[in-house]
Amino acid sequence: MIKKVSVNTLQRYKDNGEKFSMLTAYDYSTAKYFDEAGVDVLLVGDSLAMVILGYDSTTKVSFDEMAVFTKAVSRGTSRSLIVADLPFMSYNISLESALTNACNMIKYGANAVKIEGCSEHIVDVVRRCVESGVPVMGHLGFTPQFLNTIGGYNIQGKSYESTLAILSQAKKLEAAGAFALVLEMVPEECAKYIDENINIPTISCGAGRYCTGQVLVSDDMLGKYSDFKPKFVRRYADMRSVITDSARQYDYDVKNGLFPSDDEVYKLSEEELKQFNFREGVKC
Ligand code: KIV
Repeated sequence: MIKKVSVNTLQRYKDNGEKFSMLTAYDYSTAKYFDEAGVDVLLVGDSLAMVILGYDSTTKVSFDEMAVFTKAVSRGTSRSLIVADLPFMSYNISLESALTNACNMIKYGANAVKIEGCSEHIVDVVRRCVESGVPVMGHLGFTPQFLNTIGGYNIQGKSYESTLAILSQAKKLEAAGAFALVLEMVPEECAKYIDENINIPTISCGAGRYCTGQVLVSDDMLGKYSDFKPKFVRRYADMRSVITDSARQYDYDVKNGLFPSDDEVYKLSEEELKQFNFREGVKC
């Protein structure tokens, strides 16, 4: 019997001084393989806007698009905790629509939602979701949905003052009931200070070695998305080459009559074959 990872499992990792892994997943098969590999948390990240749908920003993906991928990941997952991103503007307009969207993600198969930022409204959203049975993961530091107000892919928390500002936000999210916190693109000392000063686990996305968890965008770490590679990404595979080499070979095989082979076709019986009068001989 597989024991499902829960928010309590992640808290235990932190309490025991252990690490956990998180990867983004967007489809059934990949979710299945990551789950089998023992990855603790699968994030249906709004990064799919760029790496799957080809938009130029995460702000372009809609709630309905996120829902499709969340359902697919949930069908492929047995053990991992599934966290679904609430996309841009799906939780910013009103408490009511935020709660409705968060609850719907749970209905589609997520075990928790992730939301970015820490305005008063967002803290209220976190509190109301948690009260309603929807676990919430926070996301501070560089928050891609705020790209236009931040003004670029800039590292956050680069000073003592700004580290304290992020810590104060982290404490507000923790007090509102968030079960974990992604810290994106901050110096590792900043992340360490925050992790040491809150009780819930922090998860590093380019935030160094001292967080309880680590997360990477799977298309980055598999070398599939190649438009750019942030400094903090480690490439574990070169899927771009695997895919283009395979496609090139397939194209060659088709054009040279090498695909399909005898083993890859269905055949008529000898008896049926006799009744045909092919223009060119059929090799049996
Ligand atoms: O959308 C995403 O993939 C994320 C991770 C980068 C943390 O939010």
